[in-house]
Amino acid sequence: MARWSRWLGSWEAQQQALLPRREERFSIICAAVAEGCGTHPRILDLGSGPGSLALRVARLLPSAEVVAVDRDPVLLEIGRRALVRRPQVSFADRDLADPRLPDLGTGFDAAVSSTALHWLERSALATLYRSLAAMLRPGGLFLNADHLPRAGGAIAELTQGLEHPAGAGHPVTAPSGPRSWDGWWSMAEGAAELSEAVAERHLREHHHPERGTPVTLEQHQEALRSAGFSEVGCLWQHLNDRILVAVR
Ligand SMILES: C[S@@+](CC[C@H](N)C(=O)[O-])C[C@H]1O[C@@H](n2cnc3c(N)ncnc32)[C@H](O)[C@@H]1O
Repeated sequence: MARWSRWLGSWEAQQQALLPRREERFSIICAAVAEGCGTHPRILDLGSGPGSLALRVARLLPSAEVVAVDRDPVLLEIGRRALVRRPQVSFADRDLADPRLPDLGTGFDAAVSSTALHWLERSALATLYRSLAAMLRPGGLFLNADHLPRAGGAIAELTQGLEHPAGAGHPVTAPSGPRSWDGWWSMAEGAAELSEAVAERHLREHHHPERGTPVTLEQHQEALRSAGFSEVGCLWQHLNDRILVAVR
């Protein structure tokens, strides 16, 4: 148990080193769930990894039922083992782009997600949003914290400039070792207790997409409206990092 908690802890440290204000995003999503969905909600965590956000929802709302959905066998293994004493969190090995996702159930009060949906191409995202429209109850919430840049124009350029400032005045130190993405995965690849899950991960050829053409904020919003969400907006923003919110 302790070693699985350490794996979860090292995942948290790695993600915190990569993502500014990660904990703040989680707090706002959890507070929004508490505010909008009552004390006994049924929640989906999309692209949950080892369950970081699912765990925070479960801590704040101990009567919530959270289904954490991911397709990475290594992260699922860590999550299942580390959260074994949190029976209200369950893990589902699913591809978010699979149109059969609604087999997981309907009538959910909210679907939350953090730093995951940028892995999906535009058509896969449209499929996911149609699935969510079927899985959420009327009035249910979709809350997605991710890098969500605008399509173009002067504001997009200005924001992009602030995210990647030129000149020596803003030195950026990339994390290294186990606190970097590659370093963490090298560590996982070498761990005996993860060897089966690592072998399965290789079979699935699970790779991070190229950063070339991200799906824009406007495309997300349009896809959500087309899928049947009645209201779409932003709950929080730091440059191009946003929490997108939509109401079913
Ligand atoms: C950067 S991690 C974020 C994990 C977690 N939400 C967090 O904040 O720590 C992105 C996650 O999205 C998952 N993911 C990406 N594409 C997916 C897909 N098509 N189906 C299911 N999970 C997916 C990855 O496996 C990975 O666990």
